[in-house]
Amino acid sequence: MAVLVTGCAGFIASHIAEQLLAEGHDVIGIDNFDPYYSEELKKQNLKELEKHKSFRFLNGSILDKELLKTVKDIEIVNHQAAIAGVRNSIENPTKYCEINVLGTVNLLEQFRDAEKFIFASSSSVYGEVNEIDLPCKESSQPKPIAPYGLSKLHAEQFCEMFTKVYGLKTAALRYFTVYGPRQRPDEAMCRFITSIFKGEPIQVYADGEQTRDFSFVKDVVQANMLAINRGQGIFNIGSGNRISVNNLVNLISSLMDKKVKIKYPGKQEGDVSHTLADITKAKKILGYEPKYSIEQGLKNHIEWIRTRV
Ligand SMILES: NC(=O)c1ccc[n+]([C@@H]2O[C@H](COP(=O)([O-])OP(=O)(O)OC[C@H]3O[C@@H](n4cnc5c(N)ncnc54)[C@H](O)[C@@H]3O)[C@@H](O)[C@H]2O)c1
Repeated sequence: MAVLVTGCAGFIASHIAEQLLAEGHDVIGIDNFDPYYSEELKKQNLKELEKHKSFRFLNGSILDKELLKTVKDIEIVNHQAAIAGVRNSIENPTKYCEINVLGTVNLLEQFRDAEKFIFASSSSVYGEVNEIDLPCKESSQPKPIAPYGLSKLHAEQFCEMFTKVYGLKTAALRYFTVYGPRQRPDEAMCRFITSIFKGEPIQVYADGEQTRDFSFVKDVVQANMLAINRGQGIFNIGSGNRISVNNLVNLISSLMDKKVKIKYPGKQEGDVSHTLADITKAKKILGYEPKYSIEQGLKNHIEWIRTRV
């Protein structure tokens, strides 16, 4: 099949594109090397893809309608491009609205005759959830607390609208904190492991007792592959387990066999206390089955960072 992968030079999309090529699909990748983090890192993410004869790369923006019009005969759209980062979204809400909402609508409009449109959504749509209401179900009331989560919620709603109005099959995958090789450098896991390798203290926000459902990137890739042929609507994509940030740091420290110095600079605006996915729906309808324990995923992630520090 011919698949358009947006944000292809990014962390998750580069893994998805590699898997699509491995399964014999033709891939067109688009990315504008948004300066949110280093262009150099994104160019490295493309290296494996560029070796493949079924891969074509477009350096440009999903906001460029004329560029999108040049992309023909796409069967599947896998839309990962976005500006991520909850805290940054509080500083730059307009940018999140433009790229994450308008960018998604541009793609929906241009590719509304595609066979399927898969959208990378986020657990951030849920906002602050009381522990008693965990795990989050797709039917839970979304209450985002930062522009990033709100932009993802609006983009999801546009997907649903295109299903109703144009009959476009869409699946929105709500990822819960994704980690693994190539993770964005601003993400906690990447910062922790890198600092420990360098012998520097790590910064844990709030008191570290906040919990997260972490998903290994290969499990997220699996969900995207399954969504090509199955399922419409919204799906939580997580591990179904959670760990406190303090316990995560202890686990990383023991896997790396290194002592860790921790600084607690305080709570960050936009950060929620807990995340935990109910993945029953994704298991039942997509056939999704996360395969990586946090220990297995972390070992992969640590080994990848070891070769780069
Ligand atoms: N990493 C996570 O934990 C996580 C969690 C929930 C949801 N998501 C979502 O998953 C997707 C991938 O996230 P990621 O962590 O790989 O982020 P990433 O920043 O590594 O990848 C996003 C890519 O999109 C590109 N991009 C940004 N604006 C663009 C534009 N206007 N046109 C074309 N390309 C553009 C960026 O240059 C980048 O390469 C995003 O939609 C993100 O919101 C990620």
